[in-house]
Amino acid sequence: MEAFLSNRIRPDTDGTTRPFLLGCARRTVTNAGENAAMSTLEIHQIPTRVDNYVYLVRESSSGQAAVVDPSDAPPVFEALDTLGWTLTHVLATHHHNDHIGGVPEIKERTGCTVVGPRADRDRIPGIDIEVGDGDTYRLYEAEARVFDVPGHTRGHIAYWFPESKALFCGDTLFALGCGRVFEGTHEQMWNSISKFKPLPDETMVYCAHEYTQSNARFAVTVEPDNADLAAYAAEIDRKRAAGQRTVPSELGLERRTNPFLRADVPDFAAALGMEGSTPVEIFSEVRTRKDNF
Ligand SMILES: [Fe+2]
Repeated sequence: MEAFLSNRIRPDTDGTTRPFLLGCARRTVTNAGENAAMSTLEIHQIPTRVDNYVYLVRESSSGQAAVVDPSDAPPVFEALDTLGWTLTHVLATHHHNDHIGGVPEIKERTGCTVVGPRADRDRIPGIDIEVGDGDTYRLYEAEARVFDVPGHTRGHIAYWFPESKALFCGDTLFALGCGRVFEGTHEQMWNSISKFKPLPDETMVYCAHEYTQSNARFAVTVEPDNADLAAYAAEIDRKRAAGQRTVPSELGLERRTNPFLRADVPDFAAALGMEGSTPVEIFSEVRTRKDNF
């Protein structure tokens, strides 16, 4: 409990990894009209490889932890040792090696349960529980809603923990960007990221890469008169110059600034000179420009 209360430092304040608390345990009313204790996650960000982020999440009622998209096993075990957390689950978003490279070793050493996309069960080693669009997955008392978000890969999923205001979206949505469309179509990718648009403004986007500064350099070329974007880009430059992280980002800010989330905004269409085009056409134009930026 001591660690739960003391680790309130956001991970973007310096180059070290320190956990921080997203909300606290609280009560809510269930559909049946009964009060039920809800659970939140303590989230610890681990930078790996060149620009990957792996996340350890500890569920408050059980004290047990899961790892999201473990690129590699050693940094996960180092963090678990430092934190004193026990790992019982892996949550995988998609099959790319820089997201599941550590799964076999982690599963062998811990015997943990691997949760992953039903649509890509054959490309992710050791899946024990398959989930897909519309499913609710409970990590102990913490409830995640699962979205199918094809486009980057055909079997990509995202986990949204509403009580923790946390979205683990892998390589689908980035701060000021979105994933490259490797296995799907632009229309699929637009439909996928559009599933995040109704989520609350205060949702934190725990994406899997530190791509924000290069994404910002592109975004300002698309919408140079967006004042929110200009301020966001300046803040990103300041943080990166100070060696700080820019992830997670807040969904409300992303909605106002991320060019890939703005394909259905009239002002954005006007900025591109594409008034009258469909959101899919606009998204596709922006994705193509970014691919060639
Ligand atoms: Fe990927």
